[in-house]
Order: sequence, then structure tokens, then C-alpha cells
Amino acid sequence: MDNKTAELLNEQINKEFYSAYLYLDFANYFERRGLSGFAHWYEIQAQEERDHALLFYRYLLNNDRTVTLGAVAAPETNAETDEDVLKAGLAHEKYVTSLIDAIYAAAYAAKDFRTMQFLDWFVKEQGEEEKNASDLVTKYALFGSDAKGLYMLDSELKARVYTAPSLTL
Ligand code: FEO
Repeated sequence: MDNKTAELLNEQINKEFYSAYLYLDFANYFERRGLSGFAHWYEIQAQEERDHALLFYRYLLNNDRTVTLGAVAAPETNAETDEDVLKAGLAHEKYVTSLIDAIYAAAYAAKDFRTMQFLDWFVKEQGEEEKNASDLVTKYALFGSDAKGLYMLDSELKARVYTAPSLTL
């Protein structure tokens, strides 16, 4: 594995833990709002992000690379409303997609086919993550302004079940 690819993979551990931290803060926001379904949905999202971090960590170790863990930044959003939070979630997933794409580009340039194959799962996952975040924005726009609609949406989100990533290393 070339150094640039390894460096980006190592940085991604931190980015994924930051994502977990950001979504935990979103859960924190919705808990304060009394929307425990939204809070639950983001708590599970935080768990998934932690899983992603561990996959990058394990992949580096399995390939005889040293892992260096840095400080995880405090979650930062300017979100003040429910819609702001949901839109910040979508923007963040698009940002993460750009990070995965950048690692893929480095692996491609280095002809690192193993890392490209490892990243394929994340490329697909990012498609799902963006869709989930986008669906939340759409559903909130449709139903969030009505008390009954918001209650139903909150109940729907409460049903989300945590599943471990389908990728094993
Ligand atoms: Fe780890 Fe939400 O992507």
C-alpha cells in the first residue's frame, strides 16, 4: 500500500468517529425536542459510523500498516431547527462521499486493487447513506409541519433497528 492511500485511510478513522459524534449530537438535539424516534434514529446512525471507523482501523492493521489515532473534534453545526439538522445530515453524508472518493482515487492511482475492492462497499454504502438522509429531509418537508404527521414520522423512525455492517474483514 502506498503512503498516500494509507494516510487517507488512517484519516478516515477519525472522520468516521467524528461522524458518530456529530450524529450523537443530532440525537441529543432531538431528545431535547421530545422527538425520541428521531433521536433513536441518529443514535443508531452514530453506531454505524463507529462501525465504519473500526473497519478502516482493522483494514490498515490487516495490511501491516500502523494506525495513528488523533483527537476527535467537537461536533459542529449551525443547525437551529429540525430541518436544519436533517439538511446538515445530508450535507455531511455528501462530504463523506467526497472523502471516500478521494481515497478511492488515491488507491486507483497506485493500482492498489485490494484497497479499491475494500472501498467498493463504502462507495455503495454512501449511496444508501445519502438516500436515507435525503428521504428524511423530504419526509420532514411533507409531514413535519403537522403535529399528527410529525408524531407518525417520529414513530416510524423509532422502529429503526441496528444491524452490523455486512462487510467483514
Ligand atoms: Fe460513514 Fe455516514 O458514512
